Amino acid sequence: MDKQKQDELKKEAATKAAMMVERDSVLGVGTGSTVAFFIDALGKRKEEENFSLKHIVTTSNRSKKQLESLGFKVDELSDIDQADLTVDGADRVDNELNGIKGGGGALTLEKNVAINSKKIIWIVDESKLVDRLGDFPLPVEVLPISCEQNFRRFQEEGLKPQWRLDENGNRYVTHYGNYIIDLAIDPIPVPHALADYLDHTVGVVEHGLFLDMCDEVIIAHSNGEIEEKK
Ligand code: 5RP
Repeated sequence: MDKQKQDELKKEAATKAAMMVERDSVLGVGTGSTVAFFIDALGKRKEEENFSLKHIVTTSNRSKKQLESLGFKVDELSDIDQADLTVDGADRVDNELNGIKGGGGALTLEKNVAINSKKIIWIVDESKLVDRLGDFPLPVEVLPISCEQNFRRFQEEGLKPQWRLDENGNRYVTHYGNYIIDLAIDPIPVPHALADYLDHTVGVVEHGLFLDMCDEVIIAHSNGEIEEKK
């Protein structure tokens, strides 16, 4: 699928999700190019329907800046109890609505906002759908103090680690000053077992396996169908 077509689909899924946000609710807003279309659509609702929200929390400075440029006030996650709904993108989604996220490096805040939300909707184009999770490097955010040990251990475990690099070829640094190791395992044989292993690995801050969290995925298909998968 070419980029222009993919962007059209992302926009369709995003626009559909923006129409599902309830007035005066507490909204979590994710990160990425699909979410950028979602924020634009929210801005349109604000302009056309005088649409307002009680609180908005977001998962990156990019989304925060975009929301603020449209006149939305953005709160910190610690300022709220729970979001009524969080809308986010995803890098890959399987048939059970489990996903890989963190392609944009915002996985730690994304998971924290997600876990503190009553409902989670992901917005994707059809290219993100997979039968088995994999087909996309799995991001693992690690503390700098023990990142070399983590990297070697992942190598020994056969998890095919690669340092994520920035545009200058330096190690990518997250919002929290950590590094990202991408695991090139495809497919991931047992996602829950890998998540459990990473959850119990000292030095791992967070990982991009988002399992049993998502309530609904809005999928824009190239045949024009907008599927709501629950
Ligand atoms: C960022 C993410 C994004 O939601 C994910 O990478 C999808 O991005 P896009 O909508 O640009 O394809 O997890 O950390």
